[in-house]
Amino acid sequence: MEKMPFRESMMTTELSVSTMTAPVVSSDWKKGLPVLSAGTVTLREMRLSDAPSLLVMLTTEEVARFISPPPTTIAGFERFIMWANAERQAGRYACFAVVPKGMDTAIGIFQVRQLEPGFASAEWGFAIGSAFWGTGLFTSSAQLVLDFAFGTLGVHRLEARAAVRNGRGNGALRKMGAVCEGLLRRSFLRNGEYLDQHLWSILDIDWRQPRPTSKFTIN
Ligand SMILES: CC(C)(COP(=O)(O)OP(=O)(O)OC[C@H]1O[C@@H](n2cnc3c(N)ncnc32)[C@H](O)[C@@H]1OP(=O)(O)O)[C@@H](O)C(=O)NCCC(=O)NCCS
Repeated sequence: MEKMPFRESMMTTELSVSTMTAPVVSSDWKKGLPVLSAGTVTLREMRLSDAPSLLVMLTTEEVARFISPPPTTIAGFERFIMWANAERQAGRYACFAVVPKGMDTAIGIFQVRQLEPGFASAEWGFAIGSAFWGTGLFTSSAQLVLDFAFGTLGVHRLEARAAVRNGRGNGALRKMGAVCEGLLRRSFLRNGEYLDQHLWSILDIDWRQPRPTSKFTIN
């Protein structure tokens, strides 16, 4: 998520999303993101009321050390949520809140931003509170976001950048089927230091290959 802007939704539209094998490019998401569910996680539009929990979850040292600096206050997260809402309405960006079953507020986010008008190429990024690492929440959420990106946004090529030192971030991308295409030398300035990053990509044709039977259901 290094290159993803961490800036500033509230409208939620309940849409039915089916498992996608061919692109069903739709612009409905610009009016409000669909609610996506799988197993023990729900992805939905961020709400202003998520700001306090996102502040707690995403500003710890272990979560923030390899990503663009998150806001440092509740008001900062509220501005980020309002910015995300405006960018989604403009059709440039989508940011899902990660909400575990039994909870009301967000414990993480998944972002997708267009790298060119129309989303043919796009970049994704993600961050989850460390209490939820290694629980399967990431994998369930990532599957939903990838289906949304390739099936709804019509993404052809989805990139991600991860600092080489970010073992979990790189491991998470690898296990979602991303291909490491190379090294972006000294490409990410963090805490006054330029870090090398891996460039990862997933193509729509890769994502549509038959995969092992999914344990995820999409409501
Ligand atoms: C990235 C993130 C969302 C992944 O969620 P997570 O719950 O930690 O991910 P998972 O545990 O499901 O998967 C991580 C994988 O990396 C592996 N991994 C962990 N440490 C690793 C390391 N040092 N080197 C290589 N792989 C590693 C894990 O074993 C796991 O693979 P497995 O499930 O096959 O065993 C979460 O760690 C996070 O929010 N990190 C901080 C923000 C961030 O770095 N975002 C990504 C920027 S690219």
